[in-house]
Amino acid sequence: MITRNKIKDLLADRNFGKQVTVMGWVRTFRNNRFVALSDGSCIQTIQVVLDYENLPDILLKRITTGACISANGTLVESVGKGQSVEINAENIDIIGDSDPEKFPLQPKKHSLEFLREIAHLRFRTNTFNAVFKIRHALAFAVHSFFNERGFVYMHTPIVTASDAEGAGEMFKVTTIDFDNIPRTDDGEVDFRDDFFGKAANLTVSGQLEAELGAMALGEVYTFGPTFRAENSNTTRHLAEFWMIEPEVAFADLEDNMNLAEALLKYVIKYALNNCPEELQFLKSRLLEEEKNKPLAERSELDLLEKLEFCLNNEFERLTYTEAIDILKASKPNQKKQFKYIIEGWGADLQSEHERFLVEKHFKKPVILTDYPKEIKSFYMRQNEDGKTVRAMDILFPGIGEIIGGSQREERLDYLTKRMEEMNIPQEELYWYIDLRKFGTAPHAGFGLGFERLVLFVTGMTNIRDVIPFPRFPKNAEF
Ligand code: 4AD
Ligand code: MG
Repeated sequence: MITRNKIKDLLADRNFGKQVTVMGWVRTFRNNRFVALSDGSCIQTIQVVLDYENLPDILLKRITTGACISANGTLVESVGKGQSVEINAENIDIIGDSDPEKFPLQPKKHSLEFLREIAHLRFRTNTFNAVFKIRHALAFAVHSFFNERGFVYMHTPIVTASDAEGAGEMFKVTTIDFDNIPRTDDGEVDFRDDFFGKAANLTVSGQLEAELGAMALGEVYTFGPTFRAENSNTTRHLAEFWMIEPEVAFADLEDNMNLAEALLKYVIKYALNNCPEELQFLKSRLLEEEKNKPLAERSELDLLEKLEFCLNNEFERLTYTEAIDILKASKPNQKKQFKYIIEGWGADLQSEHERFLVEKHFKKPVILTDYPKEIKSFYMRQNEDGKTVRAMDILFPGIGEIIGGSQREERLDYLTKRMEEMNIPQEELYWYIDLRKFGTAPHAGFGLGFERLVLFVTGMTNIRDVIPFPRFPKNAEF
């Protein structure tokens, strides 16, 4: 058994004189005497003071940045600035050496781009310690939110043979021998002998299966990995990302918006209550970063103010049609500063438009509803106007779309007609259609992109920095 004291506990401990053992990784070693040691339990390091005159030189030389050591000694009140307690070490053991010539993390500020290349080691920085603690807290909060409300956590498949949701390009899953591809008589790839006996993919969303669950269990949610093979090299897209998808029976679009707003506020509040040190650290980090920017580009609110603001204000709710009117009349549209000029009703909104609405016009989170059916999925409930569907997108400052969802089409004839119009194969989705044949009911749901949420709460600017090992075009390292 290995016993040790966690640094987080010791920093709050006032039992001076007690014997303690800490284990962790050396951040810095100064004057042959002062070790700043981190064990990941908190952002701060603890200072370990060595009695270097009584320690062999050969041991001192092995205390290098990145090395893992164990220190045993007395907890004392610190006389130095910046820390409350320190450890007067009596014994030091080297657990794992680290060659200082080769260890890439030096005790200085590294760029996020550089750290992305050494993602296996970036956990050891304060920034990523904070980001991944907050990521954990948010995931935990998602589960408690739904659990408190009686939702059932449902595991939807990751491998699927239906490619009809149309949410994005899919990754193929196959065991076909690429050197010997089986072909049908007309030259197509023959999947009959493939592992699943048909073409299979990684899922883009668990929604369709979640709907099956909701139509029996009432309220379900998924929280799992989803995959999109789009070639989007942006700061907001990943090829592998995590999505939270609640699906609720006997709910309409308004219920759906209320649930989404409550969820976002709950998890943000949870992070504020449970990660104060991490958020404080990231807030300061962001202020530091922004010092290099021209005044006009700096945020009006700091990270904590931004999160509080989000909690204390109702999200602005308006229809797509109202948003188009605002955008058409907006300065950047009139002056042709948008890359995509809004000519009229029907245009798909680009992230520049979404961000204008949120950041410039309303200056708060926005829920847009009732989009044209042409730019939305087949399963969204059709409105009486014959033009729009009961869709909703939630737009966040600095992020753009964070949630996409809708009330679902529960009427068999409307659904199948729309599938026909959109060339969605009905045989393949017979199980989805069956739900409308056997006890159909109004229901609604949405998908929250987990990394976009983490991005918002941490104030990081690139989605690749809020997931441990990001997957994006030409990158699947680690
Ligand atoms: O809007 P999307 O494509 O909606 C769906 O997949 C629905 N089936 C959800 C539902 O109604 N159950 O994706 C939902 C959210 C987006 O709002 C965004 O936050 C996130 O997933 N998202 C991505 N996040 C990171 N990288 C990507 N490539 C993403 N694509 C979507
Ligand atoms: Mg969407």
